[in-house]
Amino acid sequence: MRAVVLVGGEGTRLRPLTSTVPKPVVRLVDRPFMAYMLEWLARHGVDEVVLACGFLPTRLREELGDGERYGLRLVYIEEPEPRGTGGAVRFADEQLDGGLGERFLVLNGDVLTDLDLRAQIDAHAASGARATLALVPVEDPTAYGLVRLAAGGDVAGFLEKPRPEEIDTDLISAGAYVLERSVLDLVEPGRNVSIEREVWPRLVGDGLHGHAHTGAYWLDIGTPARYLQGSGDILAGRVRTAVRERLDAHGVARGEDCRIEGHVHGPALLGDGCHVAEGAVVGPGAVLGHRVRIEPGATVEHAVVLDDAVIGRGTVVRGAIVSPGATIGADCTITGCAVVGPGVHAGAGNTLDHGVRIFPGVTLPDGAVGF
Ligand code: GDD
Ligand code: MG
Repeated sequence: MRAVVLVGGEGTRLRPLTSTVPKPVVRLVDRPFMAYMLEWLARHGVDEVVLACGFLPTRLREELGDGERYGLRLVYIEEPEPRGTGGAVRFADEQLDGGLGERFLVLNGDVLTDLDLRAQIDAHAASGARATLALVPVEDPTAYGLVRLAAGGDVAGFLEKPRPEEIDTDLISAGAYVLERSVLDLVEPGRNVSIEREVWPRLVGDGLHGHAHTGAYWLDIGTPARYLQGSGDILAGRVRTAVRERLDAHGVARGEDCRIEGHVHGPALLGDGCHVAEGAVVGPGAVLGHRVRIEPGATVEHAVVLDDAVIGRGTVVRGAIVSPGATIGADCTITGCAVVGPGVHAGAGNTLDHGVRIFPGVTLPDGAVGF
């Protein structure tokens, strides 16, 4: 089966993580985010993935290659300008020899999930629907596409980004669709078309079905808070991924050549060449990239510290993200979903909290920020 994965968004809500790397290849725990999606698709029998890119796919190609290591074939398609979620699918169909086929999958490229696609494909075939949307329950549907489901699985209403007063169900579209070719007829060629705002509403009552996935893991990783949550959930095994196989009985994975003089509490994952100095504590819920240095007495807990970063003596990083190559001085406190961008130099005694984002390459003098 063939799947189109939409990866054309800019990922602005994840900046500065996405200031230098496109969202699909931002590292999540130990691999590019897209790897989880490809591994999940391969497990469900997908053998070709068309990556619908709204920007130059050079970096994606470098990171993901031809897909062989994920057990499928990758095809890259670059839109001349962003075509929107519907326009991108139509454009991919036009670019491929023989088109996308009679039945195919479409997926949003920013979702971490282990939902059972096979069950959804089977339900789609059995119902004779033109499009079947994966549905999951969430606490607050305002950031998503709300789906009103009628008896028998028909979609009775689709509302993208509903206003609070419009919410009468917790079911939302999970961004995973099984489509029949005829759906493409509803997308005008050469235009920017939103599948959510222009196609689903027109299909209501005309072959739009929903398949509710109960008990599956599902997370849109598009914000720093959710990125952190996804990292923790992968480590804790709350979502089925290949990472779990790397963890030992204590829930710890260590790369090659790590020097651990302090303590590591699982679940935690350390890349190659990390140094955890005396009195430092890493974990639970910690991810260290490659060659990360944690200086004496520092703490990294429920947090992500990426390649070549240095965490100074006595500094606490908790519930926050430190990007590649950032250097944090002594006695800092980095908490509250703060994101320190790539190559930032923070001097001693800074307090970064309340979701603050420090942009790439910025230098903070000693004690510059504290609130
Ligand atoms: N190729 C391409 N071209 N891809 C695009 C474009 C485009 O012009 N615009 C957006 N995308 C990709 C994004 O990269 C992302 O992977 C996916 O389409 C969805 O776009 P988002 O910007 O992340 O949308 P959202 O999260 O606000 O809402 C969507 O996802 C929700 C589930 O997470 C909608 O599909 C909602 O209905 C859904 O509930
Ligand atoms: Mg999204």
